[in-house]
Amino acid sequence: ATGMFTYDPGFMSTAACNSAITYIDGDKGELLYRGYPIEQLAAKGDFLESCYLLLNGELPNTAQKEEFVYMVSRHTMVHEQMQFFFRGFRRDAHPMSVLVGTVGALASFYHDSLDINNPRHREVSAIRLIAKMPTLVAMAYKYSIGQPFVYPKNELSFSANFMHMMFSTPCEEYKINDVLVRALDRILILHADHEQNASTSTVRLAGSSGANPFACIAAGIACLWGPAHGGANEAALSMLEQIGSVDNIPEFIRQVKDKNSSVKLMGFGHRVYKNYDPRAKLMRETCYEVLAELGLENDPLFKLAMALEKIALEDEYFVSRKLYPNVDFYSGIVQRALGIPTALFTGIFAMARTIGWVAQWKEMISDPEQKIGRPRQLFVGETTRTVKPIAER
Ligand code: SDX
Repeated sequence: ATGMFTYDPGFMSTAACNSAITYIDGDKGELLYRGYPIEQLAAKGDFLESCYLLLNGELPNTAQKEEFVYMVSRHTMVHEQMQFFFRGFRRDAHPMSVLVGTVGALASFYHDSLDINNPRHREVSAIRLIAKMPTLVAMAYKYSIGQPFVYPKNELSFSANFMHMMFSTPCEEYKINDVLVRALDRILILHADHEQNASTSTVRLAGSSGANPFACIAAGIACLWGPAHGGANEAALSMLEQIGSVDNIPEFIRQVKDKNSSVKLMGFGHRVYKNYDPRAKLMRETCYEVLAELGLENDPLFKLAMALEKIALEDEYFVSRKLYPNVDFYSGIVQRALGIPTALFTGIFAMARTIGWVAQWKEMISDPEQKIGRPRQLFVGETTRTVKPIAER
């Protein structure tokens, strides 16, 4: 209450929502997908199995998994006309701007025939989005480097197919490395869902009006792009490159602490985790595994990141503010090692988070009690007043 206005604390409860998908304990640093600890799902390392779990609430049995993998693999192609949307962009357009545009454009191919009140239509829309995102992300990359689009291959796993579409050319097939493919599956699992973060709340709010689910996911992509959210992985790698060496860490930390500077330690801090983000630890382990597989265990940026993390975790400024590494701190280094260009890091995040967005959208739109979202405000503006003639203003 500000004296001028009182507000009903209950109104805050309308801003939240009930969900059974993902649970976070920010104080303990715990993350569960449908009750399963993220550590167990990451160790299993099967992204489509985690997709099935997030979407349906249970891990699949053999038959269910085979059917789900079959369904996803048969929806990986996009309409042939989609390529004309890409050709309208500048070659140097940021991939997230391309994804917002092309995922939004997908709505035009699946609008008239889509009845979101039909559970089957909801299911197929979810599968289409999960299946087509890797294809669109790879197409955005190929377009940016002037190479021809590469079609998906049904016999490849989700992550292997993505690497194929990204790095194969008509002249030479990408050589699948199972260690790298398994690492990418784990990276996607770590990014898959995170309860009511900004982009998921965007998708839920857009979807609550009954809007086309492809357009709702485009809205989520727009929100994820921000550097305070999914854009932090790109910003964290740029930050490490700017710091350059361990010797420069003290000066960087000084700038972060300087109240007059806007310098932040990108990849650190979180709205919910006031303890170590469990995903950051798993991401660091995955990062080391990939670098070791490539003989890059002495990668200077990885060493710099670990030194920076150690210093920050012992520094009163970060400790007192409960600032710990989040999912974005190491993800840029491991994606760079996989050959993914920095500008595409958030696109990979969007590719993974699509499963969380569609699972949360499906949960919301399937609720018979569901109503259009309408967050309220705490009004702090002018009280009623009278318009004066312009001569008196
Ligand atoms: C993601 O919501 C989700 O779940 C998101 C996500 C997901 O999976 O969907 O987890 C993905 O978005 C992870 C976050 C990625 N963003 C970054 O790494 C950008 C850098 N981090 C900050 O922008 C910040 O930590 C936020 C936005 C992430 C969280 O901000 P909070 O919780 O609102 O923290 P705050 O702004 O209240 O900060 C408290 C204090 C402030 O200092 P004082 O005003 O008290 O002096 O900590 C400072 C902040 O200035 N602070 C930082 C900092 N983060 C907060 N100082 C330096 N570096 C940072 N990174």
